[in-house]
Amino acid sequence: MRAVDLIQAKRDGAELSEAEIRFLIDGYVSGAIPDYQMSAWAMAVYFRGMTAAETAALTLAMAESGDTVDLSAVRGVKVDKHSTGGVGDTTTLVLAPLVASAGVPVAKMSGRGLGHTGGTIDKLEAIPGFRVELTQDAFTAQVNALGVAVISQSGNITPADKLLYGLRDVTATVESIPLIASSIMSKKIAAGADAIVLDVKTGGGAFMKTIDDSIALARAMVAIGAEVGRRTVAVISGMDQPLGNSIGNALEVREALSVLRGEPGVSPDLIEVCLALGAHMLVLGGAADSYDAARAELREKLASGEALRKFAAFVSAQGGDSAVADEPSRLPAAARVVPVPAPRAGYVGAIRAEDLGTAAMWLGAGRATKEATIDLAVGIRMLKRIGDRVEAGEPLAELHVGDATGEAALAEVVRKASDAYAVQDAPPAKPPLIYAVVT
Ligand code: URA
Ligand code: CA
Repeated sequence: MRAVDLIQAKRDGAELSEAEIRFLIDGYVSGAIPDYQMSAWAMAVYFRGMTAAETAALTLAMAESGDTVDLSAVRGVKVDKHSTGGVGDTTTLVLAPLVASAGVPVAKMSGRGLGHTGGTIDKLEAIPGFRVELTQDAFTAQVNALGVAVISQSGNITPADKLLYGLRDVTATVESIPLIASSIMSKKIAAGADAIVLDVKTGGGAFMKTIDDSIALARAMVAIGAEVGRRTVAVISGMDQPLGNSIGNALEVREALSVLRGEPGVSPDLIEVCLALGAHMLVLGGAADSYDAARAELREKLASGEALRKFAAFVSAQGGDSAVADEPSRLPAAARVVPVPAPRAGYVGAIRAEDLGTAAMWLGAGRATKEATIDLAVGIRMLKRIGDRVEAGEPLAELHVGDATGEAALAEVVRKASDAYAVQDAPPAKPPLIYAVVT
């Protein structure tokens, strides 16, 4: 086999076999196939697309390109959840204990934040003492004993995806649905998932800006799941504004706690998406017969405090200060809180999630580069959401600011955060939260 022949075949619209795709991926990881040939192939895929069989073959070749996590020692159906790059997306912190309290094991590997999006591992590290690294044995033992463990991605997981994603980033081939779908699914499969619930974000702050593209991506991922024997459900949810009201690590832990504590009126959108994703997880995990029964079960776990107690036990098992569950004030807090005033009176018509994520990154809540250090205490708390009435000068949001941010930098963050809000005369139509479910 020669790479050039496979590039030509794809260029001319032919379908590659599983063996041919594996030859490309294995050759790329070993260094036998150079970047310039993989980029030509990726561009051919960008224009020609891939069949469902090709996409599944690519997914498995990437999933098996490095270490894979063996969860066979964990009892039950392992259902993983993945969100495609949100802002203020605190779903994992709520879902992990919530779903575990309803009897579905959560054995999750998560990542750190980069750019304007956050990562669950950074958020968990905002809890004093929390350890994000466990040995494989300790990880499976904790899931069997408690029903939940969340650890940092370790080892050499899907090196083919890392290489190919890096290449796509600099060759204008990121925006290919089969390449995105196989990239995401390969990581879930390598992490040991039996079944997968996907939260595909759509809209301004999301990777996929239109509902049609989001549905196409969701369908591609559900099709991969069917081809490789992992039941997959995709929920398409709006990123027309950040999902929760907090952006920043300790602030998001606080918000997750207020949801788990059942505090009335907080974070209705975050709760709704958690109930939807969690209910699909329960159904796939065999812990509920129907979506409606699963939702009722999850509501009951929140109302009874069982989900909150599961959170405390989970934190404690990983060395963290479980007293935060009852006393969120034990979490790190920023030195200063600075309001972002509304420029005029009216209604909040739009909130650019990506810009608020960037503003939070500038405060030190996120990383501009992989090597940057972050401040777990800082970030943004939104006080207004789309549809809310504001008076001129009334705070739209508050910035939680650390010592590292000087006055000039702070003024820029205030401007960025303020510009993220569009205030208009007429009350806007509320954007939908859940657009579609693809099964
Ligand atoms: N997220 C991924 O993990 N992979 C892609 O290709 C795009 C977004
Ligand atoms: Ca992603």
